[in-house]
Amino acid sequence: MLQLGKYTITGGILAPMAGYTDVAFRTLCRECGAGLTVTEMVSVRGLAHGSQKTEQLMRLSEVERPSCIQLFGNDPADFAAAAKTIDCDIIDINMGCPMPKIVKNGDGAALLNNPERAGQIVRAIKDVTDKPVTVKTRLGYYIEEDQAAELIDSVAKAGAAAVTVHGRYAKQLYNGISDGGAVLEIAKSSPIPIIANGDIYELFPAAPSIAALMIGRQALFNPHVFDDKDPDPFGVARRHIELLTQYFDERYTINQTRKFFVHYFRRVNGSKALRNAVNVADKVSDVMFALDECERLN
Ligand SMILES: Cc1cc2nc3c(=O)[nH]c(=O)nc-3n(C[C@H](O)[C@H](O)[C@H](O)COP(=O)(O)O)c2cc1C
Repeated sequence: MLQLGKYTITGGILAPMAGYTDVAFRTLCRECGAGLTVTEMVSVRGLAHGSQKTEQLMRLSEVERPSCIQLFGNDPADFAAAAKTIDCDIIDINMGCPMPKIVKNGDGAALLNNPERAGQIVRAIKDVTDKPVTVKTRLGYYIEEDQAAELIDSVAKAGAAAVTVHGRYAKQLYNGISDGGAVLEIAKSSPIPIIANGDIYELFPAAPSIAALMIGRQALFNPHVFDDKDPDPFGVARRHIELLTQYFDERYTINQTRKFFVHYFRRVNGSKALRNAVNVADKVSDVMFALDECERLN
């Protein structure tokens, strides 16, 4: 169980994943038992300019209670300005993204090399809002350089409520296997709750020192990873499409079904024909027709 300010989080947490965890997929995962969902990362500099894309990223649904928006940047003043304007219950800060276009600006995982700045960012947000602030990071920046503990100390002193640790170093990107043992060691001596992340395929009972588990890619294959119910891919796909059409236009909906069907229907008879049909579909009704056809084969 994880306590974030006045919010008690039970169940697994859906990891933020750019391009995937939009409001439709997050809602689907909440319906499948996720205890918390997080938006993909939103630039605090972008927020200052108020683009339509940023607004879309921050759209929240009714079932996202409490809701959580993830921010990235490196200037405490930008974070304070963002925290004053965004409308959500919990603010998460990305201090783990390893992508060159992010770290070259001093954002994301680059903050592992600057724990003092990381603390200043959390402090700047806490100075302007009572909302719980969480941080998401990795074991360290360079391989075998364990910097997470220092970062955690700094953000804890500044008032962070919890930290998610993905058991890889930034320089590893997504290579190798996430080191759950290293995350556990960090959790044992952390002054604030630790959420474990990385290559978790089911919600097994976490070690007592781990406050919660966060699942990313496995949820793309099976949103029912959170409630362990029968993962009927046709039912999941239909509900996902329903939610997509509720929030987005037809073009976006079809694009997302192309991305997700690769995962949902990996092990289903006729999945290749289904994917081919979806790839040339230009209406949602074409996708639904292809789904019906495929289900008949199963
Ligand atoms: C496509 C993709 C996009 C991601 N986008 C973000 C992001 O916006 N913010 C973030 O903190 N992590 C992001 N991540 C990292 C995930 O949140 C998570 O830490 C990582 O995938 C490891 O967990 P998993 O093994 O359960 O997938 C992304 C990962 C993937 C695969």
